Order: sequence, then C-alpha cells, then structure tokens
Amino acid sequence: EIRARILGIETSCDDTGAAVVNEKGEIIGNALHSQTETTVSLGGVLPQYAKALHKKHIDTIVKDALQKAQLHPKELDAVAVTVEPGMPLSLEVGLSYAKQMVLEHGLPMIPIHHMEAHALTARMVEQIDFPFLVFLASGGHCLLAVARDVDDFLLLGNCTDCAPGDAFDKVARRLKLKTLPECTGKSGGAMIEHLSRCGNRDTFNAPDVFFKKRSCNFSFHGIKSHYMRYILEEESKQGIEGSGVISNASDLCASFQYAILRHMCRPLQRALVFCDNNNLLAETKTVVLSGGVACNRYLRHGIEKVCVTHGARLVVPPPELCTDNGIMIAWNGIEKYLCGRGFVDDPQSVCYRNR
Ligand code: KG4
Ligand code: ZN
Repeated sequence: EIRARILGIETSCDDTGAAVVNEKGEIIGNALHSQTETTVSLGGVLPQYAKALHKKHIDTIVKDALQKAQLHPKELDAVAVTVEPGMPLSLEVGLSYAKQMVLEHGLPMIPIHHMEAHALTARMVEQIDFPFLVFLASGGHCLLAVARDVDDFLLLGNCTDCAPGDAFDKVARRLKLKTLPECTGKSGGAMIEHLSRCGNRDTFNAPDVFFKKRSCNFSFHGIKSHYMRYILEEESKQGIEGSGVISNASDLCASFQYAILRHMCRPLQRALVFCDNNNLLAETKTVVLSGGVACNRYLRHGIEKVCVTHGARLVVPPPELCTDNGIMIAWNGIEKYLCGRGFVDDPQSVCYRNR
C-alpha cells in the first residue's frame, strides 16, 4: 500500500489556495485566501491586482496549510501546482513558488490542469468509476467532458462566449445587489440565488438559446444581454435610470436563473444521449457537477432531474470543494502519484499555459 502526502497549490484565478491531502483523500491541512469581495467590488478580476494579492498571500497560505498538517516540506511526497488554464500573471505566482520549494527541498513536482482537478475532486468524497460525465460550470468556464481516466478527458462541449458564473456576476453587479445587507460577502451567483427564492421565475421571459449546429456547446451571452435589457426597461418604467435598484429585482433574478438552468440542461441532455448511443459511460452512469456555479442549489436540483430522467446519478462535491481551492489540486496530485503519472523530469523548465 502506497502512502502519500501531497501539497497542492492553486493560483489560476483570484483565489490563493494550498492544501495537503493524503492517499485516502483526507485533507490534513488546508488554507485559502479568497479575493471574492475584491472581485465583486471591482466587477471582475483585474490581472495585475490579482497577481499582487497572490504574491502577498502565497507564502502565508502555504505555510498555514503545512502547519495545520504538522509537516515540514521535506516530509511531502510531491508538490502539485496548477499550470493551466488560467490568467498568466496569476498562474506564474503559484508556479514560481512551487519551483522554489521543490528546488529547496528536493521534491518531485506534478503540474496540474485546473479543470481536470475540478473534474476529479468528486472522487475524493465518493466512489466514482471511470468513465463518467463531467459538467463544469464556473465564472470562467462551462464544459461537458467524459472523464475516461486520471489524465484522459474527452471534451464534448465548451463555452463559446460568456460563462454562466460571469453572467451571474454581471447581472448581480448591474442590480447593485451587494448593497443589500443579506448579500455581504456573497459571490454574484450566490446573491442571485438568494434573491430568486422569493421571486417569480415566469415574470421576465427569455427565448431559449439555439445553435445552428447540434452540439454540446454553451452560450450565455444572449441570456445575459436579454436580462441587462430588461433591467434598463424596468429602470425607465420606474423612473430610476441607471440606478439598477429596481423594485422587482427578485422576479428578475428568478427569471434569469431559470433561463440559465434551461440553457445548462439542453447540452447536458444531448451529452447524455450521445454517451448512451456510444456506450461511453460506466455501468453506474454518473454525472459530476462542479465549479463555483454548482454551489447553486436551484440549478443543482434542475440538473439532477435531467440526470435521473436519463438513468444517471448526480454527484456534486460540497460547496467548498466546488469553488477554487488547493485541495482539488493536491487530490489531483495524489491521483496522478498513485498511478505513477504526471511527474516532470525538470521542474524548473515547467511553463504555465494560458486558457
Ligand atoms: O469555480 P469558481 O470558484 O472560480 C472560477 O470561476 O474558476 O467559480 C466562481 C463563480 C463566480 O462567477 C460565482 O458567481 C459563481 O461561481 N457562483 C455561483 C454561486 N456561487 C458561486 N453561481 C450561481 N449560484 C451560486 N450559488
Ligand atoms: Zn475553477
């Protein structure tokens, strides 16, 4: 029986994360610095700014994770670090730090693909056999893929423009939701989910998104624009041009969230049919939903209905594992370590890659 303790470092976007995970999937040390509040107030991630914050926090975060694990760096079996995809300036901070660390302590390095790490995290908490269907939805991505093995993914569909989390964030910002006391500290998506609970989803309708070609791709730009236009119209009806603080915000949020759900379900249905026809999934058909948007309980519930209709079970990691963190990177390191893959001969020559 192989024993392993791997440190994972994540800096691909706006969260600085580090964690130590062992071969059993136990989290033995975890630390995270989230820039969510800054991102919300800036209305997006500013590369230079995100880089500066990563630089400021990375050393503390890594040391914190190691200290919680009660480990000296020399006791680690490897350092896993996100190298793609992500913002170059942000990725660079984590990668340089990891290089420095493996050099100083003579450790192996395992470069990690951020989306693959999201995809495999569910295996840390649940028994899921390959191949299974992965549905990732975050602020930067929306994709469907068949996870065939630890390092073998078949991409079925991708996002052609704006990702769902980004649409949530932009609409939340336009509605100035963060000025509501019950929304402090929440992400744009979480704010909209919250308001939607007391809204009527049939108030503001939007046409469904259709592609000319049948595919499993996503496009959320149209939905976002449609609801931005509704906000403008409501403002002028209510005589509050430009303020964003419309009286029926909860109805708008509920309708918008419903439109997002409908658009998430269509490519998923297609992917499930495609997988069935080509016998691409394991006997116990499993769909793993992850990424920040998977925190949304309303969306999760709707997606689960689609899965059940197709005879598949839906697995969603707990919210803290759905959003960006160091744990998923460490776990991906463990999965690669256990099957002897993913090591690099010369860590110092590893480069980050753009999205
Ligand atoms: O995966 P993640 O932490 O970072 C990346 O984008 O890679 O996802 C963050 C995104 C944000 O856009 C945020 O608004 C969205 O996930 N999000 C949600 C919810 N919680 C977070 N979207 C919808 N509903 C939520 N409850
Ligand atoms: Zn992510």
